Amino acid sequence: MSEMALLPHSKVCVQRRPDMISHELICTARALFADDKGLLAMDESNPTCNKRFAALGIPQTVEARRAYRELIVTTPSLGDCISGVILYDETIHQLKDDGTPFVKVITDAGIIPGIKVDTGAMNMAGYPGEKITEGLDGLRDRLKEYFEMGARFAKWRAVIAVGDGIPSQGCMEANAQALARYAALCQEAGMVPVVEPEVLMEGEHTLDRCREVTEEVLRTVFDRLYKQRVMLEGMILKPNMVLPGLTCPKQETVDEVADATVQCLLRAVPAAVPGIAFLSGGQSGELASARLNAMNVRFKSRLPWALAFSFARAIQQPALEIWRGEEANLLRAQRALYHRARCNRAARRGTYDTAMETNGSESPPRS
Ligand code: 13P
Repeated sequence: MSEMALLPHSKVCVQRRPDMISHELICTARALFADDKGLLAMDESNPTCNKRFAALGIPQTVEARRAYRELIVTTPSLGDCISGVILYDETIHQLKDDGTPFVKVITDAGIIPGIKVDTGAMNMAGYPGEKITEGLDGLRDRLKEYFEMGARFAKWRAVIAVGDGIPSQGCMEANAQALARYAALCQEAGMVPVVEPEVLMEGEHTLDRCREVTEEVLRTVFDRLYKQRVMLEGMILKPNMVLPGLTCPKQETVDEVADATVQCLLRAVPAAVPGIAFLSGGQSGELASARLNAMNVRFKSRLPWALAFSFARAIQQPALEIWRGEEANLLRAQRALYHRARCNRAARRGTYDTAMETNGSESPPRS
């Protein structure tokens, strides 16, 4: 394989043959799982980012969002633990305060830039309480632009709520169809699709109900991916872990969550998929690391795919809470970000320990 395929700034010939694209996709997907690293999602839409800023009294401005994203991408040694970052449209166009494009900062750190391309989850007509993710219109052209800017993978998130009588078959099928259409367009453009069907944690449902719904959703998604001729070797699955609802009285142990999650994935995810990178979904950073770690400790040697992370809140939240929009807090915030990234790399190796939470944050960044 030509190393050039992985370099976002490489001048890829305008008319790449389909076999070359397949090869690039496989190489990019493999690179995203190499060396026990994982993905950092920093693709919050402006409304979501503003909501998180408002909760901490941070101004909800373009400049504050830019400064926060600069804090993330300039964290020293981030590339030790993070193979790819997922950007948002505003962010992929932004620059460091010295004028360097974020995409250059990211690739110089040895990290592959990715981009969220869905335009959000909207109320689904005829299906009260359920959502459908939009963004297929014009997607082919947007993917082309993002590829030219250096993005080598993309993300699309579907949300599936659990409750009385939901999710419906109609909602699962519509979202799976959109995910599959998006994934096919990504591969055509030479970008690895991160396929994210998220079964939400909100609700009183049990772990067993989450397992049942997650399995059904994943079966539906892979059926549609197959029908849309998506090459499984050149994609990444980004699912939820199998968890009890947030307000369910019974909260299972870390090992029970690991067992249920792996059992569900083994039943529904084809072995040709190179890797699975979980979303965190509102779990604390510590729990998300502990659960991923337990899966790798208990099952890694027997699994067909890598089990990794693609967390947003479970990596970013402590850093955001320290930063609070103040320059003086920057280094401490970067240290907290690096620490969570490092804990998750350890979780991929099955070497994470809660002791890392108290004595493990002395590593980079340096001033
Ligand atoms: P969380 O890890 O905060 O769930 O975010 C992951 C993500 O990318 C949501 O689309």
